[in-house]
Amino acid sequence: MDLGSEAVHIDVFTLFPPWFDWFRGQRHVVNAMALGSSVEAVDYRAHTPLKAGQVDDTPFGGGAGMVLRVDVVEAALRARYGEDPVGLREHRRVIALTPGGRLLDDALASELADEPALTLLCGRYEGFDERILEHFVSDQVSIGRYVLAGGELAAMVVMDTVLRKLPGVLGDDSSAREESFSEALEGAPEYPHYTRPAQWRGWTVPEVLLSGHHARVDEWRREQSRRRAGGPLP
Ligand code: ADE
Repeated sequence: MDLGSEAVHIDVFTLFPPWFDWFRGQRHVVNAMALGSSVEAVDYRAHTPLKAGQVDDTPFGGGAGMVLRVDVVEAALRARYGEDPVGLREHRRVIALTPGGRLLDDALASELADEPALTLLCGRYEGFDERILEHFVSDQVSIGRYVLAGGELAAMVVMDTVLRKLPGVLGDDSSAREESFSEALEGAPEYPHYTRPAQWRGWTVPEVLLSGHHARVDEWRREQSRRRAGGPLP
């Protein structure tokens, strides 16, 4: 089964680069970087052509909040990639995190893990000037139908799902292959897990898991997974 490419180079454009220091310190992310992937935070403000580090502005037509400016995002992308960002999306996935975008699921995570490189754009406040989405971006991705204060947490969720799919990142590749919603489980939720102690307050573990009979264990797991696919768990 295809678990994605060997490594992914991710640039995340943000007004808050230090947020990503924490993310980069997480064990599986450290593993991914040791195996050749990268996660770099690029500061929109570092490249703004405007005075006093301005990056956003009030919306035309009035209304609350601030909108990330198209000239600021263009300058940041140009500085990073040395080309007109209109052409960038032809050879690199440029993903804006937006609440209304394509919903992130396991299939999208696998698709992104197959890419050699990704650019993630985080919005803040009221979001992006629409021309950024129209002219620079190849995809819009949402982590759920609710509104976050900005795209940073969503970018971390996307990166987490992508990086853990790369070979070697979790230590044991079968844990990423046979997990909830994966192809291996035909899109169904994962089967239940148990570990020691085999008895706790009279709560037991299914006998088959203690049997050492791998084929029966496999069959039981698949059956449990299919049963869970029938509906949400309590
Ligand atoms: N930015 C704000 N809310 C978001 C969401 N739910 N998903 C992705 N990006 C967002």
